[in-house]
Amino acid sequence: MIIAIDGPAASGKSTVAKAVASRLGIHYLDTGAMYRAVAWLALDRGVAPDDAEAVTLLALRHPVTFAYGQDGGLPTGVFIAGNDVTAAIRLPEVDASVSAVAAVPAVRAEMVRQQRELARDRDAVLEGRDIGTTVFPDAEVKIFLTASNAERARRRQIDLTRAGHEVTADEVQQRLELRDHLDSSRESSPLERAADAELLDTTGMSVDQVVDAVVIRAEARR
Ligand code: DC
Repeated sequence: MIIAIDGPAASGKSTVAKAVASRLGIHYLDTGAMYRAVAWLALDRGVAPDDAEAVTLLALRHPVTFAYGQDGGLPTGVFIAGNDVTAAIRLPEVDASVSAVAAVPAVRAEMVRQQRELARDRDAVLEGRDIGTTVFPDAEVKIFLTASNAERARRRQIDLTRAGHEVTADEVQQRLELRDHLDSSRESSPLERAADAELLDTTGMSVDQVVDAVVIRAEARR
């Protein structure tokens, strides 16, 4: 069974997708981490994130891999080109360049190929922007998560502060809105709700309430 969770930045996808995977005991794949890893590698190699040809070469040459702990479960690390980029892919400079990398059609094609391979022959929860529309259009469960802009900025600011980055709520909201705009307006599989995805507005919902809602739908399809 494939569970597709899509939605804009900071809509709660990771928290919810991880909890759903743990509850159901199935695989979890963070597809945003893969675009972030390619963006990180471009920055590391001095390649402009919008240099489509150079970024595509990097993506084709260096597949993204995940490490898992002894009990399987959730991934413990993200790697590209021999580098452990688990923490580095969350840095603000990666935030600022990842949308350009993710807009390159050939990079997307390669990431989609890797994502289908990583989820092949297994039950999995995938989170991203195009899972229900492009990666797994036949997913058994499709959820599109949203929350108000202010709520998403509030959540992201808490994450950033915990990670030691001091930013104001206004700054965070502006950056999120810019990234949403770039992700929704790109030509190649933009962020959009699949016609058959269920819309869940999580503003005012607790994490447990959202997770319960997804698990109930998954169990009904088992
Ligand atoms: O979910 P995230 O914020 O970690 O994703 C990082 C970026 O990657 C996001 O700005 C858009 C892009 N992305 C994408 O285009 N398609 C996906 N399936 C996942 C992420």
